[in-house]
Amino acid sequence: MDVNSISTDAYDKIRSIIYKRYGIYLSSNKQEFLKSRLSKILRNLNLSTYDQYHDYLTKLPVNDEHWAVFIDAISTNVTYFNRENFQLDILKQSVLPRIHNQPEINLWSAGCSNGSEPYTLKIILREYFEKIGRLSTRINIQATDISTNMIQEAVRGVYDQKMLGDLDQSLITKYFKKGINEMGGKNKVRDILRENITFSLYNLMDMPYNFGKQFDIIFCRNVLIYFDKQTVEEIVNNYFKILKPGGFLFLGSSESLNTMNKKNFGPSIYINE
Ligand SMILES: C[S@@+](CC[C@H](N)C(=O)[O-])C[C@H]1O[C@@H](n2cnc3c(N)ncnc32)[C@H](O)[C@@H]1O
Repeated sequence: MDVNSISTDAYDKIRSIIYKRYGIYLSSNKQEFLKSRLSKILRNLNLSTYDQYHDYLTKLPVNDEHWAVFIDAISTNVTYFNRENFQLDILKQSVLPRIHNQPEINLWSAGCSNGSEPYTLKIILREYFEKIGRLSTRINIQATDISTNMIQEAVRGVYDQKMLGDLDQSLITKYFKKGINEMGGKNKVRDILRENITFSLYNLMDMPYNFGKQFDIIFCRNVLIYFDKQTVEEIVNNYFKILKPGGFLFLGSSESLNTMNKKNFGPSIYINE
């Protein structure tokens, strides 16, 4: 036995831990995926089998730092600025005009990865309120993820050009500082962009959600695809409990709530009515 092979028993036990702890559902044939994500960890721990690694996990205290290493290896963090921008157009054209009279707007980017999504939202909202002459509107963004690495990257706020996607050059100049010397080619978020965005570690399995306020808009895009139907339904029902009446839930374009009887507002966009 070595880290290149995994017994069915060890695979089932480890995927069950992932499911129970993080809601991420791996089907019975994702052994290659799991090995590719975990083999380096086993080598670093000098363990030669996944059964040993399972034993190691079962003996870990709940708050042990290794859990952060484990979930960082398992989670998929692909993201970029302006992702799925057809939804962002709907945000600008149809959602914000409904709520723009409020003194403050509260958003939650749940599963924010490296911060591309919440910073994109901040740019969109700030540009919108500047255009309608209401820059005094306070934009609060709660941005959370289960991955410690991703939250650290988000707080750092340094991105290469590719991560900025199709963001307009004028917006890049306005909201990012150009890196020089060893930071050449990188872009660092300006304070004006960072303002009132709170990044924190949060496991979406920790329900009910309570951030001490109700949200106008929740973005949870490209996160629910990793969960099974039952977990998705629990999470979505809990989102609706903390959405204001008339608030909006944005999911990824491949994530829809066909079976959940939620009012559709646009492509994978739902309204709390
Ligand atoms: C593919 S990224 C999506 C990022 C961004 N929302 C977007 O659409 O570009 C999925 C994110 O969900 C996070 N995630 C997965 N399971 C989670 C959980 N149980 N609690 C919180 N975040 C989770 C991952 O760490 C990852 O950063």
